[in-house]
Amino acid sequence: MNVQTIDPMRFRSVMGSFATGVAVVATEFGGELFGATVNSLTSVSLKPCMLLFCTNEGSATGAAIRNRGLFSVNILGQHQSEVSARFTAKLNHRFHDLPVAFSTDGLPLLQGAAAQLCCRVAAVHKAGDHDIILGEVLTGDEMACSPLVFHKGTYGRFQRT
Ligand SMILES: Cc1cc2nc3c(=O)[nH]c(=O)nc-3n(C[C@H](O)[C@H](O)[C@H](O)COP(=O)(O)O)c2cc1C
Repeated sequence: MNVQTIDPMRFRSVMGSFATGVAVVATEFGGELFGATVNSLTSVSLKPCMLLFCTNEGSATGAAIRNRGLFSVNILGQHQSEVSARFTAKLNHRFHDLPVAFSTDGLPLLQGAAAQLCCRVAAVHKAGDHDIILGEVLTGDEMACSPLVFHKGTYGRFQRT
């Protein structure tokens, strides 16, 4: 049987219609800080509290998070599009000169973020060319701050209707 499948570039473009927030997932492993911008973040379960995000199978941050077994999620505020851009750029400059605090487990928490969570890696599932990383949520904090929004490849702000 000949099954029709969508062209990957068309799929990416169509999914760009789905507006999302933007987060930086981060960890410390082997004395180094790792972090990457993701918009594949979603909550999964309340009992226990779980979330997931997806990383490309070649992701350095994904590998560090799998190895450490712990990670932070920094949900970016509307003023942080430059932070988002920085965490997609060259690896060794990502944390340079950024205000960062650390959780009791030594996980990097980006200052000024709209919300921060700390998680334990509960499972990793392969899915095509990505890994789905499932995290059990250990802590969560939110600030009074509007979120950064990503839609059709550009950043924007949330507006109530
Ligand atoms: C708004 C936005 C959302 C992104 N979301 C994801 C994502 O969910 N998963 C992913 O693997 N890459 C995503 N990326 C691309 C990564 O941030 C980029 O490839 C980064 O260099 C990965 O770094 P790493 O190799 O340290 O993991 C996104 C980029 C942007 C700008």
